[in-house]
Amino acid sequence: MCGIVGYIGTQQAAPLLLEGLTRLEHRGYDSAGVAVLGSGLRVAKKAGRVRDLSADLPKRFGGKIGIGHTRWATHGPANDVNAHPHVDAKGDVAVVHNGIIDNAAALREQLTDEGVELVSDTDTEVLAHLVARSTAETLEERVAEALAAIEGTYGVAVLHADFPDRIVVARNGSPLIIGVGDKEMHVASDLGALVRYTTTVAHLDDGEMATVTATGFTTYRQDLTRVQRTATQVDVDPASYDAGEHESFMRKEMLEQPAAAERVLRGRLDERFGTAHLGGLNMDARETREIRRVKILGCGSAYYVGQMGASLVEELARIPADAEAASEFRYRNPIIEHDTLYVAVSQSGETIDTLLAVQEIRRKGGRVIGLVNVVGSAIARECDGGIYLHAGPEVAVASTKALTNMFLGFALLALQLGRVRDLSISEGKRLIDALTAIPAQLQEVLDGEDRLAEIATGLAQAESLFFVGRVRGFPVAREGAQKFKEISYRHAEAYQTSELKHGPLALISPEVPTVAVVPDDELTERNVGALHEIAARRGPLVVVTHPDVDLRGLDVQRIDVPRSARELDPILLTIPLQLLAFHAAQVLGHDIDKPRNLAKSVTVE
Ligand code: AGP
Repeated sequence: MCGIVGYIGTQQAAPLLLEGLTRLEHRGYDSAGVAVLGSGLRVAKKAGRVRDLSADLPKRFGGKIGIGHTRWATHGPANDVNAHPHVDAKGDVAVVHNGIIDNAAALREQLTDEGVELVSDTDTEVLAHLVARSTAETLEERVAEALAAIEGTYGVAVLHADFPDRIVVARNGSPLIIGVGDKEMHVASDLGALVRYTTTVAHLDDGEMATVTATGFTTYRQDLTRVQRTATQVDVDPASYDAGEHESFMRKEMLEQPAAAERVLRGRLDERFGTAHLGGLNMDARETREIRRVKILGCGSAYYVGQMGASLVEELARIPADAEAASEFRYRNPIIEHDTLYVAVSQSGETIDTLLAVQEIRRKGGRVIGLVNVVGSAIARECDGGIYLHAGPEVAVASTKALTNMFLGFALLALQLGRVRDLSISEGKRLIDALTAIPAQLQEVLDGEDRLAEIATGLAQAESLFFVGRVRGFPVAREGAQKFKEISYRHAEAYQTSELKHGPLALISPEVPTVAVVPDDELTERNVGALHEIAARRGPLVVVTHPDVDLRGLDVQRIDVPRSARELDPILLTIPLQLLAFHAAQVLGHDIDKPRNLAKSVTVE
């Protein structure tokens, strides 16, 4: 979703801001803009891509301090006027903002009554006017005063022509990072925007502000009392934010899965006791034994992997477990139980629905752990403990390697929970052996890409598809349908194979292919029976299964993936579905890393 960049230092700001905005493109956006302070404050903003903005950026945009933004429309359509930065009537103040101002309508009315002319439809514009009308002495006081009047979420950066030596930033529910360089400082909502210039960064917490000058930064709470934040070195390779020789980040990230899987498992398997070591959970064996239920919360694909995780926990630890869409959770006034372990799962660690669910649980005294990829992200910091996923930066909107590591994170969790209960040491060792083999098996599936590309070419022609599976296979089908619709824009619907007869079978025809997930388990026979029913209605079939599974003479396009332990099979069955979606989208000529209407991190409700 929206992205923020800022620069102050010894170089010309505009090119650096544009470069930073390009790095934020994957977050999803529909307009972009910059404000630069040189001999006066100048603003350029435009609906469309960052490259459209760069092409039009006047040469006179000289200045060594500036802010920039990519906007994902919420209040008002995507057009030049609604793009950020927003300025006050005199053009002295420029503001960029991520998040949503809930009381914007009331503030707009109040400002209009005071004679202020609002030019855009956005909530953000009120902030520029509120800062401008403050008569406080310092810019920090003016920004604090403006923020005190607003309700909602924000990451903001403010520039003021009367204070040309500083950018004032603030955070409440939307990330804000300060990057420390040599006689220059950067500001961004996402590490990826500044990691090329510096890996020394400070994160603001909710309710904090900072003054950023060319030589340093100071942090304080919004009542302007000082709070100490020190910049630390982040362990990230700037090259991981480049697609390199790959035509897209999605392909690069799919191919990185074997290495990413090794990282999430490294140092966490205890062969001697047949268990996992997850020190970050911050729970001792006694507390772990007291867990009576596990509730997993995530959004989109993270929710579907959460369903796979719930099965793992039930099968290995025999603890009742389920997954729920985090976006729905808090609106049904959930009952929070002290002996339930709540698990928030998120790649970005920023997804607002998941973050709010975590906050609701903690407010009611529940214990939450996070399965999170981005270190130091809001969800990671909000949780009582957790498991970092170590997938490395994921840029493509369609999540792949992070999801694989989420699954493996759940397997580790289930193993540890199981081993303090009834899972025997030999069963634990069986799982460890299977987990250890996963990276090589992922590679084996990825090596079959050419054939998957061929199958995808056929699937891309269909307007509508089914993805079906049962029990362990159902979340796999859901994730497969999700990936397919996200980037191919085809209607892909996931169903339990067992439910087809109760309605959707009516839609089966030669024009509607079905991708069926058929693991080798106690339901294989029944699954194959259902596939015969589809074939009898002349529905084309693609079957993702294991070698030797007998499809009883069905004429299908068959994709065999290696067997793992039965509990772990879902992750290997998921990989071909990523590749099918990727190649279908490629055949259709879509922008794979930036699918229409979608954002990498969904930071508004
Ligand atoms: C995955 O391909 C999707 N882009 C999306 O469903 C995603 O998984 C969801 O928005 C949750 O994101 P998170 O993992 O960053 O919380």
